[in-house]
Amino acid sequence: MQKGHYIFSGHDTVELARQYATPLYVISEDIIRNNIRNIKSAFEKEHIDYAVNYAGKAFLNTAMCKIIKDEGICVDTVSKGEMYTALKAGIDPQDITLHGSNKSEEELCYALENGIGCIVIDSMYEISVLNELCEKKSRKQNVHIRVTPNIEAHTHEYVQTGRIDSKFGIPIGMALRAAQKVSQTRYLKLTGIHCHIGSQIFAQKPFIIAANNMLELMSNIEALGLDVHELNLGGGFGVNNMTDEELFSVKDYASALKELLEVKCPEIDIPVPKIIVEPGRYIIDNAGITLYTVGTIKEIPYMRKYVSVDGGLFENPRPGMYDAVYRACVANRFEDEPNELVTISGRCCETDTLINDILLPKCYPGDIVAVINTGAYNYSMAGNYNRLPRPAIVLLKGDKSELMVRRETEEDLVRCDEVPSWLK
Ligand code: LLP
Repeated sequence: MQKGHYIFSGHDTVELARQYATPLYVISEDIIRNNIRNIKSAFEKEHIDYAVNYAGKAFLNTAMCKIIKDEGICVDTVSKGEMYTALKAGIDPQDITLHGSNKSEEELCYALENGIGCIVIDSMYEISVLNELCEKKSRKQNVHIRVTPNIEAHTHEYVQTGRIDSKFGIPIGMALRAAQKVSQTRYLKLTGIHCHIGSQIFAQKPFIIAANNMLELMSNIEALGLDVHELNLGGGFGVNNMTDEELFSVKDYASALKELLEVKCPEIDIPVPKIIVEPGRYIIDNAGITLYTVGTIKEIPYMRKYVSVDGGLFENPRPGMYDAVYRACVANRFEDEPNELVTISGRCCETDTLINDILLPKCYPGDIVAVINTGAYNYSMAGNYNRLPRPAIVLLKGDKSELMVRRETEEDLVRCDEVPSWLK
């Protein structure tokens, strides 16, 4: 470990860049486990009957599933690909939930054949489709109904999902009808209800209001003579990209929830439900950084200095999609005074700014830049724009480092290409 280098989770990041090449996603298993334990201990401290379903969409691969399994939590999936990954990694099918606003019959069949624990129904239409598929396969299936509780949480419009005007879920006003419809089927068993009000939310209040509305809905469902005992409140716990300071306290959330459950459930005369949460970002975001090598540096006089790195839009589309803001450092000169205002841009044929106007020490080609807190929705949303191979992911545990995903090659890029007969 060299003095003046940026150390992440006990590792010299300049060494990692040298050993594994750049661009490189770096993930710390120790931080992931710590984040999971934070959530577990917050709920355990309040003696809440709970389960954590890690939202795989934030970051999923085989090794990640092994960590999830080892920590004894469950996983929320949204596609056959995510289910396949979780099953292949050895996660108990009962610990897998399937979500999706437009699940294909193929996905539903796959879920049924593999004994997936819970399917979250997202529309009236899905109730009949799933019941018919269950009948064909002579299988009963536990389901939840996803409800939009009409909550507007303050977050980016693209990740606000609790409003009535949403492609997700069934509006709360129609949820009773949906519950009734499920109860009239032969093969579906309604065990709970679900809501997810959005992502990257910092305030506790919208979560508690949503929980309150959902408890009332549970009581109305129970009044129909149905026994629903699980309340899935979704994910969305906000993380702070700009400092290490915690902006969303899971401890406070669990304690506010406990208070609500204690007061509300006796008031509306329902048993206290099992609470399920589905955090993705909170578990993985600060466990990840991305390392880049600086290439071209271009100064537009009196205007801007562009520091180009070997990544960009293809491996982190979030600045472009959500105006996501990141912090970064020059890993090989971590202790130098930041004295130049620059823009870090990617290498795509596009203005793929990664970070606008950031103060860094003077950069030179060959420097290693580390962008911080890139664990969530970077690798999982990466693509091959400009036919660029996706970066490798290295996993850190204690003082060990090993690949969890190898770097794609050009051969991988043409792997699925076919040449129609008339072009041969
Ligand atoms: N549960 C459901 C049903 C969800 O739709 C989501 C996220 C989560 C849980 C996990 O939310 P989290 O705890 O990670 O905030 N690509 C966007 C985020 C989209 C989130 C979609 N749903 C981004 O890069 O910010």
